[in-house]
Amino acid sequence: MGLTAFSLFGRLALVTGASRGIGRAIAEGMADAGADLVLAARSADSLAEVAGIIERKGRRAETLVADVQDLSSLESMSTGLADRGMLPGILVNNAGVEEVRPSTDVDEALWDRILDTNLKGAFFTARDFARRLQEAGQPGCILNVCSLTSVVGVPTAVPYTSSKSGLLGMTRALSAEWAKAGIRVNAIGPGYFRTELTEVFYRDPSWSDAMLARIPQGRFGNVEDLVGASVFLCGDAAAYVTGQVLMVDGGYSASI
Ligand SMILES: NC(=O)c1ccc[n+]([C@@H]2O[C@H](COP(=O)([O-])OP(=O)(O)OC[C@H]3O[C@@H](n4cnc5c(N)ncnc54)[C@H](OP(=O)(O)O)[C@@H]3O)[C@@H](O)[C@H]2O)c1
Repeated sequence: MGLTAFSLFGRLALVTGASRGIGRAIAEGMADAGADLVLAARSADSLAEVAGIIERKGRRAETLVADVQDLSSLESMSTGLADRGMLPGILVNNAGVEEVRPSTDVDEALWDRILDTNLKGAFFTARDFARRLQEAGQPGCILNVCSLTSVVGVPTAVPYTSSKSGLLGMTRALSAEWAKAGIRVNAIGPGYFRTELTEVFYRDPSWSDAMLARIPQGRFGNVEDLVGASVFLCGDAAAYVTGQVLMVDGGYSASI
């Protein structure tokens, strides 16, 4: 196997939550690996900015405004792709939200917002992606952005932990169901990365110090640290890998 197995040249990747943070870094990294991109999120202006960066790399980048919590919006995304004659072979299910709160204070609105975005949204995006591929008789691959909370419990993050544990379960079950259709389903499990989602934690130096002490590599992740694992899992180098989560967490989940 040559290094081309690590290339995404000729692939079209749909990345949700591509307007900033981890999704943006994965989209840009996949473009560097040769892929063309479809960028989805709710913020049109930010998507256009990311599309401009990707186009300057010499890759194609289309944007689709979509809210993954809303099934009619997902349907419009699918129709929008079909109207533009685009059939992505890679889906990165990255869109996600988080809010910590003591579990005794969690209400239905918070539970629904987190679960509907992180789990229900990811499932129905995957369903529509796989339907179109199966109708076209094409193979494909899905990368779900899980979390440390897919494998460890985090106090006051119970809706989020539930969504990301569910997403790992979904990764395994869909990998088994769709393997014969040629669709691989894997996940990455990011540890601690400073983004808009997590910014609130980093403002507290005592939290940062305590967390750093628990990360064997002794630093927080940079969003670019997630690119290699993402490109690997979506390329031919991982042709016989499905149903797996690759933790990218500086060793956190492997240590006590
Ligand atoms: N940061 C970390 O340490 C960390 C660790 C583990 C896992 N993760 C996961 O990584 C993913 C990205 O997180 P991040 O840290 O990059 O957060 P972020 O900077 O807040 O980015 C979240 C992205 O998701 C999009 N999004 C949110 N709700 C959406 C919706 N309803 N429909 C469509 N797009 C939506 C946002 O775009 P719009 O607002 O424009 O819609 C944005 O592009 C999430 O799934 C998160 O759970 C993050």
